[in-house]
Amino acid sequence: MKNYSIVAETGEIPSGERKRVEINGQRITIFNIENTYYAINDTCPHKKTAPLIRGKLDGLSIKCPNHGYRFDLKTGECNIDSTLNTKIYAVKVEGNSIFIKLG
Ligand code: FES
Repeated sequence: MKNYSIVAETGEIPSGERKRVEINGQRITIFNIENTYYAINDTCPHKKTAPLIRGKLDGLSIKCPNHGYRFDLKTGECNIDSTLNTKIYAVKVEGNSIFIKLG
């Protein structure tokens, strides 16, 4: 799996849970929504400080805890301003390990 890095074990993120990891200085939050995993840049691109791990989920959309902009976990799209679309990462599970694609 070229460019994939292991970030967690499945047992660490049960359905409905989330976990933040830091890789090469980049904070990334992994969500488990009904046993499908999604990975998104944790730092809200609006003011570049708010952690999306503390946001509220609504379906596949995570709401920033600061000003409430929403980001789609599948596409990274921001519902308010497309210039604030953020980075999402491809996720793969092999055995009990969760990998995300970097770069
Ligand atoms: S910092 Fe996230 S919406 Fe403003």
